Amino acid sequence: MSYVLAVDQGTTSTRCILFDRRATVVAVERAEHPQSYPRPGWVEHDAARIWRDLQRLIRKVLRGVDPSQVAAIGIANQRETTVLWDRSTGVPVAPAIVWQDTRTDVSTLDAEFLKSRTGLPPATYFSATKIQWLLDRTPGLRERAERGDVLFGTMDSWLIWNLTGGALHVTDVTNASRTMLMNLTDLDWDPELLDLFGVPRAMLPEIRSSSEVYGTAGAVLPGVPIAAAIGDQQAALFGQTCFEPGEAKCTYGTGGFLLMNTGTTPVRSSHGLITTVGYRIGDRPPVFALEGSIAIAGSLVQWMRDGLGLIGTASEIETLARTVEDNGGCYIVPAFSGLFAPYWHSEARGVIVGLTSYITKAHLARAVLEATGWQTRDVVDAMNADSGLALTALNVDGGMTADNLLMQIVADFLQVPVVRPMVAETVSLGAAYAAGLAVGYWSDQRDLRANRHRAGSWKPGLDSGRRAGEYANWRRAVECAVMFSR
Ligand code: G3P
Repeated sequence: MSYVLAVDQGTTSTRCILFDRRATVVAVERAEHPQSYPRPGWVEHDAARIWRDLQRLIRKVLRGVDPSQVAAIGIANQRETTVLWDRSTGVPVAPAIVWQDTRTDVSTLDAEFLKSRTGLPPATYFSATKIQWLLDRTPGLRERAERGDVLFGTMDSWLIWNLTGGALHVTDVTNASRTMLMNLTDLDWDPELLDLFGVPRAMLPEIRSSSEVYGTAGAVLPGVPIAAAIGDQQAALFGQTCFEPGEAKCTYGTGGFLLMNTGTTPVRSSHGLITTVGYRIGDRPPVFALEGSIAIAGSLVQWMRDGLGLIGTASEIETLARTVEDNGGCYIVPAFSGLFAPYWHSEARGVIVGLTSYITKAHLARAVLEATGWQTRDVVDAMNADSGLALTALNVDGGMTADNLLMQIVADFLQVPVVRPMVAETVSLGAAYAAGLAVGYWSDQRDLRANRHRAGSWKPGLDSGRRAGEYANWRRAVECAVMFSR
């Protein structure tokens, strides 16, 4: 028996999953890591801790399995999060700046120029201004980076560098497409962008495809090939086998990310979506995607639990929200990291509106779930307008899809059926698929499609008059968040 080992290095946790040929989860191990919020708007991770977690998780998940039974390792990761480390010691030079962090200033950036080069709007979300911030504020760091003594990577690069004992400094094209430093036409680092952000080329990893053997994991599993790296949201697109243009999925984790496969030509958005690389298998042409990114979805539930203490566990939100019929007139716009797609207001801040003494924590719970529903509606409207096609069903995955009330809310707000696959761990599955293809564990994409099974679906129900009224209120609440900018 042989397996593929998938690593999902996400925003709140790291997971290791062992899959067999039928895409069955054979073993899973997971570790949460701390979120550090040293100042308002700042979010940091300890990259060294994440690497230690990964080593422990790999050992645990492989208990009773001989390393020779592992055909390949595939890595999916939180994107944009920026790690800088010393090449000779392997120690990070500063805490990793997380994708949700809003400390940088993007107000003077030329939106049209950036969009044409990278497919991205100017936002604090992407890596470039985070690297710039670190290089500008740490004495001597830029000089060390120019000499190649300090390296940059997103989590994929950082983990591959460590897994290979410092032998490989690479990233994949999906992760590179989120740095705001890669040119979307030739898929290489763009000299003008490097100049604009003051980022030395010597500190950047080599850009490779998402599915190929980069090297072996000598530091932990000698001889086992590392055969995939892919941004987690693109991994979910791959794991849901959205291989045809027009196929889309939405993953609900810390944030919510709707990606639609647009084929081998990048489609430029005129409605606030991101043009991004979906995946690239070896030397085949890259496949592009349009993406609607929602910064805060599951992390709003986490905030209800950890920040406000209104619930004891994340799953309690559904029980609490079900104790009331509606939101009682209350709306929450969770612009904790500004507003992402389709608004792109990095300066916006979160608001709760419509408060009266009638509102209880149950109404707040309802408003939390509805915020994810309305944000999904905003990006689906943009996706429909950009593609000229109306979405007929939404494929969903991720931890929040265990919340049946949320899934019903999404179906009601979008007025299309919502469909959940059997394997909810599609991020890991996508990484496993990309790695397995590279080493011949699976023969081709048709092979992968055969593993796709539907587990649940929700039909739209809400009355159209009420839906329109609620949506108008949501939009007014969004205006408040924009008005209440930092
Ligand atoms: O772009 C950020 C995204 O990759 C984070 O995903 O699931 O770790 O919150 P997740």
